[in-house]
Amino acid sequence: LARGPARPDLAGRHVVVSAGGTREPLDPVRYLGNRSSGKQGYALARTALARGARVTLVAANTGLPDPAGADVIAVGTAEQLREAVVKAAADADAVVMAAAVADFRPAAYAASKIKKQDGQEPEPLALVRNPDILAEISARRARPGQVVVGFAAETDDVLAHGRAKLARKGCDLLVVNEVGDGKAFGTEDNEAVVLGADGSATPVPHGPKEALADQVWDLVAARLETAP
Ligand code: CTP
Ligand code: CA
Repeated sequence: LARGPARPDLAGRHVVVSAGGTREPLDPVRYLGNRSSGKQGYALARTALARGARVTLVAANTGLPDPAGADVIAVGTAEQLREAVVKAAADADAVVMAAAVADFRPAAYAASKIKKQDGQEPEPLALVRNPDILAEISARRARPGQVVVGFAAETDDVLAHGRAKLARKGCDLLVVNEVGDGKAFGTEDNEAVVLGADGSATPVPHGPKEALADQVWDLVAARLETAP
């Protein structure tokens, strides 16, 4: 890896990273989920540790080994992820939402396995909205100067979607990945642009997820230094 020595520029800081993808149960054996691997969130946790931070990693269904030195909280659903992130954010200097949070969950959970009936078509699946954790954390700012970062995977006009999403969520930074054609999901490498609420746009060239993670922490550290 062509990276310089890690700078302890996050020493004394507490950062919260969410990683992976939530699963919303339908019955005891089935769930609605997504393809997030958790690798980008784990890279963020590892690089923050290397830069001296105390790291709380809220991990949704990743199956990845715990980064040494991180406080890892395993969660399943969006509701559980919300509870863990809000609690950990109370004394955090930065919160990075790298997890893919299911936008919807089944309106009802069936305590018994759903069985098919001979000759009958299934009922349509009713869904309800999950809470928007990034918007909530951004609006709440548990601590003055807390830096909040979101991730977005977009297609088509990636920058326009990213700018609109940054404004809608109210976060400080939004890491925008272009997806499609096997890009980003489950792969080792990423390519992104980091949009700032201050109007900045920092392109991150194609490279390992660690490099993108370090770029995110550079931008976070700069904002923490100038915070009141
Ligand atoms: N996010 C969140 N809570 C949700 C949905 C998303 O905290 N219920 C966070 C994700 O962790 C990510 C950011 O919001 O950091 C953007 O996620 P994305 O799915 O792109 O945003 P949505 O508002 O759900 O937009 P879309 O309709 O494009 O899925
Ligand atoms: Ca979404």
